Amino acid sequence: MILYRRKNIKINFKHLRTTNYIEQIRNIRKKILYTHLPTNLCFYKEDFLSATHHFGIFIDNELVSILTLIKNFYIYNTKLPSYQLRGMATKTEFQRKNIGKSLLQKSLNYINLRTNTSLVWCHARKNVFNFYIKNEFKKQGSLFYIKNIGLHYTMYFDCRLLKKQS
Ligand SMILES: CC(C)(COP(=O)(O)OP(=O)(O)OC[C@H]1O[C@@H](n2cnc3c(N)ncnc32)[C@H](O)[C@@H]1OP(=O)(O)O)[C@@H](O)C(=O)NCCC(=O)NCCS
Repeated sequence: MILYRRKNIKINFKHLRTTNYIEQIRNIRKKILYTHLPTNLCFYKEDFLSATHHFGIFIDNELVSILTLIKNFYIYNTKLPSYQLRGMATKTEFQRKNIGKSLLQKSLNYINLRTNTSLVWCHARKNVFNFYIKNEFKKQGSLFYIKNIGLHYTMYFDCRLLKKQS
């Protein structure tokens, strides 16, 4: 997968320690996900829980893409152990270079190997629905509206598919 075309570039995937990175994570969330919205939306109440995982991709030591996985039940199947994907964002100038895809795939593998998660689900903004489709997420239910943000689909990724492949 071509992540980035410049030569000699350093690309690193990292599990981000909350205490070290939360400020950067929240700054990117604010800039990319909640630009004109109140800053408190960037603060997820689960950010510091031990079961919560933050991941990022660094390009030449700059954090350029982030996501957060929060242990949370899935409304369509409350019995399966599940994580909620939130705060998926790539800095504008780094978008459409396969960085988000790489981050998501590596994060799903990480969580799949280290926890007994069956599903990872998210509320996908309608305008980035295809990003999740390209990452093998499936849509469930109908479009719904989240106040101030817009239309969303509930989508899920079945981690058990990864287990079968490995
Ligand atoms: C959605 C987002 C995280 C994708 O990150 P990215 O690094 O640009 O994504 P990638 O370059 O890895 O894209 C992977 C695939 O998804 C597609 N894709 C990326 N962004 C897309 C978008 N906005 N709409 C439709 N498809 C998209 C790409 O074309 C690519 O397809 P390919 O594999 O056939 O080449 C990024 O656009 C972003 O931060 N958007 C603003 C914040 C946001 O809406 N986050 C999601 C909240 S639910």
